[in-house]
Amino acid sequence: RIKSITGREILDSRGNPTVEVDVTLESGHTGRMMVPSGASTGRFEAWELRDGDSSRFRGKGVQKAVHHVNHELSGILIGQDAEDQANLDHRMLELDGTDNKSRLGANAILGISFAAAHAVASAAGKPLYRHLADMYLSENERLSIPLPMVNIISGGLHAGKNIDIQDFLIYPVGAETYPQALEMISAVYWKTQELILKKGYVGYLLADEGGFGPALSSNEEALELLCSAIELAGLKLGEEVGIALDIASSHFYNINNHVYELHSEQRILSSSQMIDMLEQWIHRYPILSIEDGLAEDDWEGWQELTARLGGKVQLVGDDLFTTNPNRIQHGIDIKAGNAVLVKMNQIGTLTETVAAVRLAKSAGFQTVISARSGETEDATLSDLAVGLNGGQIKIGSLARSSRLSKYNQLLRINEQLGGAFAGGSILSHTNH
Ligand code: PGA
Ligand code: ZN
Repeated sequence: RIKSITGREILDSRGNPTVEVDVTLESGHTGRMMVPSGASTGRFEAWELRDGDSSRFRGKGVQKAVHHVNHELSGILIGQDAEDQANLDHRMLELDGTDNKSRLGANAILGISFAAAHAVASAAGKPLYRHLADMYLSENERLSIPLPMVNIISGGLHAGKNIDIQDFLIYPVGAETYPQALEMISAVYWKTQELILKKGYVGYLLADEGGFGPALSSNEEALELLCSAIELAGLKLGEEVGIALDIASSHFYNINNHVYELHSEQRILSSSQMIDMLEQWIHRYPILSIEDGLAEDDWEGWQELTARLGGKVQLVGDDLFTTNPNRIQHGIDIKAGNAVLVKMNQIGTLTETVAAVRLAKSAGFQTVISARSGETEDATLSDLAVGLNGGQIKIGSLARSSRLSKYNQLLRINEQLGGAFAGGSILSHTNH
C-alpha cells in the first residue's frame, strides 16, 4: 500500500523545470519518476501544467503541478494498493475530471503513475521492465531490446529552425546485437561531424537531442550528408544502416490554407505535393520510416499518404496520434498511418500508454517507444520499451547524458536478456 507521495520541481535537459515524484510503500520500498517534456508538441496531447508566472523560469515553473502531487493526488492515493495500477490511474483521471488532464496536469499524474510502478517493481525485487512484462504481456512472450532509430541531424524546433524537417535519423538494421548497433551508430555520428567540419557549415554545435544542427541550404542536403557519413563509416547504405525521418510537419502546416510552408526552401506545398516529394526521396535514399509526414489535422492527406507509400515504408503518427487510443482507433478505421509513436507524457498514465500500445499492435501497427526533446537522467523509457515489447525505440542522438542514460540502461537489460535484439527484421512486417 502507498504510504507517501512526494513531488518536487527539478530541471530537465534544457534547464526547464519538470516534475519528479517519489512514491513510498508501507513496506519501505520506493519508486521515482522524472517527467519528460516536449518542444514540438502536438495540439492533442495531454496538458502539461506550467505555472505561467513569468518571474520564475520564464513562466515554465511547475510548482502548481507539484502542489497537486503533494496535496489533492496524494490525498486520494495514500493507503491504496499500489499493485493495482489501473485503479491508481483511474482514480487520478476521475479526480482531474477533464479530457486532457488540464486541471491537475498530465505531468503531475504521469509522475505518480510511473513512480508507483517503480515502487511495486522494487518491492517485488524485479527490474521495472520485468514487472511491466508480467503485468501486461502474455506469459510466453519473449522480450528483446528494441531496434533504435537514432537522431544524427536536427532541424526545426530542436535546432533553431535551421531547416524545416526536425529529425534525420539512422536505423542500424544490419546489426545482429544491440551493442553492435551502438558501434555502427557511433561510427556514423562521428563521420557526420567530420563532414560538417570539412564542408565548413555554420553551426557545428549540438541540438536539443544531441544531434548536429548545421545550417544547411535545403532539407535534402541533410539526406545527402547522412548518406555520405554512412558510407564513409564503411557501412552499406540501406543494408546495414537505413534512414528514418521525423518531418514534424504539423509545425510548418498552415491550417487555414491547407498547405505546407517549407521556409528554408521558400516552397509552399499541398498535401499531395508533400507526398510527391517524400515519394521521390524514398526512391533516392534508403528511407525506411517517415514520422509525421503530414500534419496532425490533415487526416485526408494521411489517407492518401498511406495509400501511396504505406506499402513501402513505415508511416509513424506522432502529433497525429498523440498516444491517444481514440485517435489511434480513428487512424486504424480510416487507414491513416501504419505505426504509432508512443510518448508516455502525451497521454499521461501508464495504463493508457499500455492501452495505446495494445491497440496499435492489435491492428498490425508498429510501435516506436519515444523520448521527448526535453529529458532527464531517468531511464524509465528503456524499461517501458522492453517491458511492452515495443519493437523500436527513439531516444535521440548518441550524445548528452539525458540520452545516454537510456542507451546505457538498454545495455544492462541486454545482458539480462542474454542478447535478444529485435533487429532490422522488425521493419519487414510493415513493408509488405
Ligand atoms: P518533442 O519532439 O519531444 O519536442 O515533441 C520529439 C518528436 O517530435 O518526435
Ligand atoms: Zn515527432
